[in-house]
Amino acid sequence: MKITVLNGSPRKENTSAMVEAFATAAKEAGHTVEVLQVGKMKIAGCLACEYCHGKGNGSCAQHDDMDKVLPAYQDCDMVVFASPIYYFTMTAQMHAAIQRVYCIGKPPKAKKAALLLSSASPTPYAGAIATYNDMTAYMGIENVGIITAAGDENKSEAKLNEIRKLAQSL
Ligand SMILES: Cc1cc2nc3c(=O)[nH]c(=O)nc-3n(C[C@H](O)[C@H](O)[C@H](O)COP(=O)(O)O)c2cc1C
Repeated sequence: MKITVLNGSPRKENTSAMVEAFATAAKEAGHTVEVLQVGKMKIAGCLACEYCHGKGNGSCAQHDDMDKVLPAYQDCDMVVFASPIYYFTMTAQMHAAIQRVYCIGKPPKAKKAALLLSSASPTPYAGAIATYNDMTAYMGIENVGIITAAGDENKSEAKLNEIRKLAQSL
């Protein structure tokens, strides 16, 4: 499978450790993995200009780092959304990347998705998980796993092993 991992963190710490564990194990299992650190990218919000649904014929009127993300969305068999929790949801950068998929509607080939979330406290996940569940249901993509790491679970071998097992099971 071709797997696109969107990492919504702007830094290389907890979420990136989860992404690294997933990507390494998935590659070892024979998959092709592309990691895009959207948390460090410049991606503006959708302008609702509807260029994409008219003259643009599926292409976006805005040109920024989303130009790197859209081809990966278009080509992948699986999408992994990985993000720290910022104020009870995924990061703003991740939300921009998610919403700019509007020009193509949904990843056309993706059949599977997973969600990796990192936080400081143990209970801030409801908003991010609701967004992910509603979005994947809308897109007709099967959820194959949601893994959260809170506080001391971040970077723990137990949590990274859970993520490796998910990658190996694909
Ligand atoms: C702007 C901001 C908002 C945050 N909001 C929350 C929150 O609502 N709940 C929580 O448990 N942690 C919150 N955190 C903590 C991060 O989710 C946590 O430190 C996470 O492990 C960071 O992941 P990273 O190392 O990939 O950046 C917040 C951190 C920042 C910088």
